[in-house]
This record gives sequence, structure tokens and C-alpha cells, in this order.
Amino acid sequence: MAALLFLLFTVIAHVLANTEKTIFLGPDPSASSVSEELSTLHLDILNPDNWSLRTRLRAEFPSPELPQGAATWFILDGLTPGQRYEVRVCWPATQPTAFTLKTYTPSTVYSNPALLSSLQDYYSASRQPSTTTTPKHDSRSSTLLLQILASADFYTTNTTLMISPPPVDTDVILDPYLANVLPRSLAGTAVYLVVVGALAYLGLARGARWVISELVRSSSQGHGEEEDDGRRKKVQ
Ligand SMILES: *[C@@H]1O[C@H](CO)[C@@H](O)[C@H](O)[C@H]1NC(C)=O
Ligand SMILES: *[C@@H]1O[C@H](CO)[C@@H](O)[C@H](O)[C@H]1NC(C)=O
Repeated sequence: MAALLFLLFTVIAHVLANTEKTIFLGPDPSASSVSEELSTLHLDILNPDNWSLRTRLRAEFPSPELPQGAATWFILDGLTPGQRYEVRVCWPATQPTAFTLKTYTPSTVYSNPALLSSLQDYYSASRQPSTTTTPKHDSRSSTLLLQILASADFYTTNTTLMISPPPVDTDVILDPYLANVLPRSLAGTAVYLVVVGALAYLGLARGARWVISELVRSSSQGHGEEEDDGRRKKVQ
């Protein structure tokens, strides 16, 4: 029953909220060697211990300068090289927005002027410098930069809203895949569906056996006593 309710809520959540995601592999630690500079940027950090963040993301209408809307940057750290992950954003259907998610190694961002200027724009536009959280420094784990582009996707006659769309309430979720196959957060649902499927299959099989045995019995009744005698003989 609890599992059923969970499934129901998952389905409802999917109906009332939109999601967008990107799937990637944890990079080689050597690709994230510039991570000291990252700690000065005061970006929010997601890692396997702190894998979900509720926040409000700035959205803009698409323009020639920002064809995919406003950028927000995050640090993904503590990643295991070669491990498959997904990052999802979920936002309410009442705030129509088109999201684009991209991950880059720090060295890619630092060597690409367009990405670097997007990161610097976000840094200078973002509000108060939050408490400095230094990315974990572990030679076996690696770091990526996540860029979330949010482009407002509605039309209204309210010019205030058309000039500056309101920030979008968003959950940002870092989800490692179990055995590189299944997102961890979906594993419970998947196990449930497998169990229900198996039970349904067994139930069907039993039902089918019952139908077949009924058919056999009703057809054998037509033959009457003879067959009964035959059976009795065999038993003796
Ligand atoms: C998770 O992030 C929040 C806010 O960024 C921070 O206050 C908290 O200490 C972090 N927890 C862990 C286990 O890193
Ligand atoms: C436009 O939207 C803003 C924000 O929701 C609201 O404060 C304002 O009253 C609206 N203006 C009109 C003309 O409806």
C-alpha cells in the first residue's frame, strides 16, 4: 500500500511539475585540476552527500545575446570517475520555462571565452556572496561545472512580467546511477514495478492454468464413464 501511494505521488509529481535532465559520466580527476579557482566563485555545490537543492533560478526571455535564457552555474563535486550521473531540474508547470542543462570540466570553461563570460556574468549578477564552501579536495574524485540555462516560455500582456520574468522555483537534483543503469531515486519505483509485474505474471499464469484445467475437465466430462473407468484402472 505504501509503495502504491509512493507510485501515485511520483506520478502526480510528474504531472504537476516539469523536469529536464542531463546525463554524464564522472570525468577523470586530472580534467578538473583548476578547482582551487572555483572556490572563489561562491557557486552552490552539489555532491553525493548534498545531492538536492531547492532554489530560485533567474529566467530571461530569449534574446540574441542570451538565446537560451539566463545562466546559473553550480559546482558538482565528489564525483567518481566513470560513474554515470544525471542532474535533473524540476519546476512547477505554473511557471513555464525552457531549461537547458550542460556540464563542463573546469578546464573547458576556463579555456572557452563564451563560457567564461557566462560564468563571470552569473558571478557578478548573483546576490550576496554566500559562505565560502570549498569543493572537497580528493585526488580520487572529480569536479564538473553545471550550467543551467532558463528561458521564460510564456506570453502575457503584463509588460512588467514581459520585461523581467520572475525567478523560477526549482529543485536541482544530482542522482548517481546504480550499476550505471538506473538513477538511484528511481530504483525504489523500479523494484516496485518489477515486483508488481512478477505478481501479475504469476497471477495470470495461475489464472491461465485454471482456465485450461476447467476446459479439459468440461471436455472430458463429455466422454463420460469410460474415461473414469480408465483412470480407475490406472490408479489400481
Ligand atoms: C549541504 O549544503 C548546505 C547548503 O549549501 C550546507 O549548509 C550543508 O552543510 C551541506 N551539507 C553537507 C553534508 O555537505
Ligand atoms: C503585472 O505583474 C506584476 C507581478 O505579478 C504585478 O505586480 C502587476 O500588478 C501586474 N500589472 C498589471 C497591469 O496587471
